[in-house]
Amino acid sequence: MKLFLVFTLATLAFAKRFDGDQVLTLHPTSSEHVITINEMEEFADFWRPDSPSLVREGSPVDVRIPREYLFKTKRVLAAINMDFEVKVNDVQDTIDHQFTGTKTPYAGAYDYDVYHTDVEIESWAFDMQSQYSSLLKVETPTKSEENRNIVRLTMGSSQNNPIFLIDCGIHAREWISPAFCQCFVNRMLSQYNTDANVRSMMDALTFVIYPLLNVDGYAYTWSDDRMWRKTRSNYGTVCTGVDPNRNFDAEWSGPGSSSNPCSDTYYGPEVASEQLSKELSNFVLSHTGEIQAYLTFHSYGQVYIYPYSDAVKDVDNKQEHNDIAIASAAALEAVHRKQYTYGPGYQSMYLAAGGSDDFSKDFGVPLVYTIELRDTGRYGFILPESQIAPSCEETYAAVDVIAQHVMTKL
Ligand code: ARG
Ligand code: ZN
Repeated sequence: MKLFLVFTLATLAFAKRFDGDQVLTLHPTSSEHVITINEMEEFADFWRPDSPSLVREGSPVDVRIPREYLFKTKRVLAAINMDFEVKVNDVQDTIDHQFTGTKTPYAGAYDYDVYHTDVEIESWAFDMQSQYSSLLKVETPTKSEENRNIVRLTMGSSQNNPIFLIDCGIHAREWISPAFCQCFVNRMLSQYNTDANVRSMMDALTFVIYPLLNVDGYAYTWSDDRMWRKTRSNYGTVCTGVDPNRNFDAEWSGPGSSSNPCSDTYYGPEVASEQLSKELSNFVLSHTGEIQAYLTFHSYGQVYIYPYSDAVKDVDNKQEHNDIAIASAAALEAVHRKQYTYGPGYQSMYLAAGGSDDFSKDFGVPLVYTIELRDTGRYGFILPESQIAPSCEETYAAVDVIAQHVMTKL
């Protein structure tokens, strides 16, 4: 017992540190450059794109280099004439400064301008339900691999309107995503009686929202490794976790995903092996024809991605996807001047099979976007809390445009 306690405390005290690690933006301009970047797979943590196999000449690459590899890496980059900038000078220092939010002075009020743990987010959901019982239902339909609740919210003046599906937190380290889901829900509920726009959406649509899909991975980013991306499932291999956004039934195990359990883009032992992919897939499959739109929030890059990403092919309603992305991005930009790009996944990002977006489109959701939130790499995944509120404001405007469009089609 004593030993166990000591071990537990030690684990807590020794969350992974990133002192001296840097995030570099590399500019590969030749096949030699691309090969060298691929060789860095063993020690480098790919931020953008998500894996070395997706690196292409002419596209910048953000990558975290652990301190002990920095000197060698920079020497090699110089030797082969690859341009690079230091994006994050000290990753640990940036992590230590991500908590910049000023706690609200009102004791007891939930603070949307700070990052919350998975435990806080779950109790927040139930608190919201008690406060707004006529507009919000909280359910925990599925348990994660580590036995946490996957929380699902059903929000609106009726639970039987056409569904607007939203999820946040598929990838663990993309903290701005669940933060957005929470403040979006709060805005919709707290302004239902005062904001005509909010009321129109809440009266016409049923919002089904998963505020934190990858709850285990997210918990792990707080306790052990801030840079964790995947789930925490274990299939008896040396490495832990599956990339949930490579685990869906959309050309599963295809391009841009890996069969290697140690890869950050591991597609898993089978389609929808992960509890969260099962939950989301089942929801989509059991509501075909009812879901009018699906938005899945990631970070970072400031991009609207619409299908397809699992092959170079276009959606039937490409024009609609593109027009609404443009309109939504314009509304977003009007708030704090942040610019978002847009396009089909195969073009705006890269081929990456097994995504929840392509799956939902294939199984009947007419309008689907993966939205990569702030920023474009200055902080990457370690976006400071001071940017939560502005991100929420602009992203609310973005969602509003999409929801209003959906309502015109009802
Ligand atoms: N950064 C996201 C990812 O790689 C983009 C997802 C785009 N959609 C897709 N089906 N690959 O998971
Ligand atoms: Zn992501």
